[in-house]
Amino acid sequence: MPDADGKTTAEYRKLIDEINYHNRLYYVADKPVLSDAEFDRMFDRLLEIERQHPELAAPDSPSQRVGAEPSKKFEPVRHRVPMLSLQKVTSKKEFADFNRRVLETLDSPDDIDYVTEPKLDGLAVELVYEKGLFVLGSTRGDGTTGENITLNLKTIRNIPLRLSDQTASQYPLLEVRGEVIIRFSAFEKLNRELESKGSAPLANPRNGAAGSLRQLDPKVTASRPLLFYAYGISETTLPALATQKAVLELLQAEGFLVNDRICVTKGINGVAKEFQKLEKVREQLDYQIDGMVVKVNNFAAQEILGQVSRAPRWAVAWKFAAEPAKTILEDVVFSVGRTGIVTPVARLKPVHVSGVTVTSATLHNEDELNRLGIRHGDTVVVRRAGDVIPEVVEVILSKRPRGSRRIRYPARCPSCHTALVRPKGEAAHRCLNLACPAQVEGRLFHFASKRGFDVEGLGNKLARQLITEKMVADPADLFFLTRDKLLQLDLMAEKKAQNLLDSIDRSRHAELPRVINALGIIGVGEAAALLLAEHFGSFENFREAGLSELEEIPGIGPVIAENIVNFFANEGNRKMIAKLRQGGVLFPEFTSTRSTGRLTGKTLVISGTLSKPRHHFKNLIEKAGGKVSGSVSRATDFLLCGVDPGSKLDKAKKLGVEVIDEELFARML
Ligand code: IVH
Repeated sequence: MPDADGKTTAEYRKLIDEINYHNRLYYVADKPVLSDAEFDRMFDRLLEIERQHPELAAPDSPSQRVGAEPSKKFEPVRHRVPMLSLQKVTSKKEFADFNRRVLETLDSPDDIDYVTEPKLDGLAVELVYEKGLFVLGSTRGDGTTGENITLNLKTIRNIPLRLSDQTASQYPLLEVRGEVIIRFSAFEKLNRELESKGSAPLANPRNGAAGSLRQLDPKVTASRPLLFYAYGISETTLPALATQKAVLELLQAEGFLVNDRICVTKGINGVAKEFQKLEKVREQLDYQIDGMVVKVNNFAAQEILGQVSRAPRWAVAWKFAAEPAKTILEDVVFSVGRTGIVTPVARLKPVHVSGVTVTSATLHNEDELNRLGIRHGDTVVVRRAGDVIPEVVEVILSKRPRGSRRIRYPARCPSCHTALVRPKGEAAHRCLNLACPAQVEGRLFHFASKRGFDVEGLGNKLARQLITEKMVADPADLFFLTRDKLLQLDLMAEKKAQNLLDSIDRSRHAELPRVINALGIIGVGEAAALLLAEHFGSFENFREAGLSELEEIPGIGPVIAENIVNFFANEGNRKMIAKLRQGGVLFPEFTSTRSTGRLTGKTLVISGTLSKPRHHFKNLIEKAGGKVSGSVSRATDFLLCGVDPGSKLDKAKKLGVEVIDEELFARML
């Protein structure tokens, strides 16, 4: 094919600029002027030219938005300037403390300007523009090094592929930072589409955004309704702009989407007012936010303030309180877990709780049901415990409908109809029939879960199918599944069957702690499984251990020890383990990591308010071989520092003790 002549080249360049311009009108300004058909015609012509003259293909061509060829993996990218995290405050008082430190450091008698920005709950990314061209995009990663996801980011329609000539010459290197999100409305639509195709729906918009960006195939990313909100520029590229406000204006002028609820305001009261406003509109926003980011507007002031460990001292995240939500109890179902425990589960009218749509919540047990005195049709308050499992915390009696029915605890197992028992001293009802289908299903699901054999694609639904179709009676049967057998299942396609078999094959190498956890011995969870694997080193040694040896292991009490012995004494379990071996499970030996724990020989002091109670961190430190001390001295290796650390921080600084925050601490482990 002959090279493109000047006329075609000019036409091509013009098409790119026009399409990019109309994309912007459509995706950023939300004011399209072209009809879809007119737009498509231009796009088709562009593709035609690229087909005929591949040598023309430009890096800012909108054709790249459709998705390039899949990559094998994401390459690491070192951020020129680290992507920092933020300190958190949760009240006006805590913000006032932050403000006081800022004013003190700046030696400012007067209130200063802050920029308040909704804290979007998505995925932080960095976009690098060289001479105006978008050349490199990466995830935040650990703040220092992220992953190269350029091709995926190019599919996001509202990310400019080229900046204006003026900006390109003024800032030959421009690093733009912001958040990739999915709007609630788009998320719900996407989930409906996924479900209608038989794919698993996404858990929430944040996971959806993160998962979509980390697809190896950019075409998948291109099919996801992702949006990029810009909120800053990295320091190396700090232009001759004096304020955060000016940066946001530049970004907006260059066609980036900048949040329309960003404000500039003065002092504590100004910021608090904005926070209240944001809290009020939060429910109406079409995207998830978890608080407000407050930044010192003036860059010269930011520079004076600097940073501590991984967070700037010129910005703070003021988080919303985990807010309980009200909804209506539609029904209560009783679910049987893998250990036979029967748990009442509330079916709720869908309600948003901290950014996630909740449709069911645990009611724990009979005592809790009685305490709540809950009835059908009640209005209830729902909260997400630790932001994960939703629970019903309160019934609003004044809203109880007339003649409502009480909820009765079933006398028999809802799955196998065996009479339930409530063992003395326990709050739970149990089904004692080990062959109960619900228990078998639960055990299979647990066996294959992430913390067990990690068989991808084996969820509750498939576990149930495999059991009802009698393909699997115990977990070991998984290793004897064949393609032909799987294809007999309803809704099982070739590709899915092959993926499942590949994943089962990989799981044959599962490490010892996972194998032990997967067995589902009552009382032996992830932590105990690790202790046991470390102690015994091999599955054989573990299996042959006697009661007294087990009891002596720190962390394993007499009850768990007895459960273990009983487990291996059971004929069915023994057969199952023999079958695992026949099925090719390798039971690799395990070497303890404890003696070389990450914090072996180190002494840490904890100070300030952390995201979890102190004993949580104390446990982690001790598990990693470290020691916790109450006061800072020369013998202290690290000060783990939260919000409002007080005098310990001063002392640590004086003594030159390294100060770390939660995030760094987590990474050290
Ligand atoms: S500024 C040093 N601005 O919050 C400044 N971050 O802990 C750090 N985030 O994952 C970032 N909205 O992606 C900033 N308007 C906003 C933000 C924001 C959300 C996220 C950010 C990061 C986390 C920082």
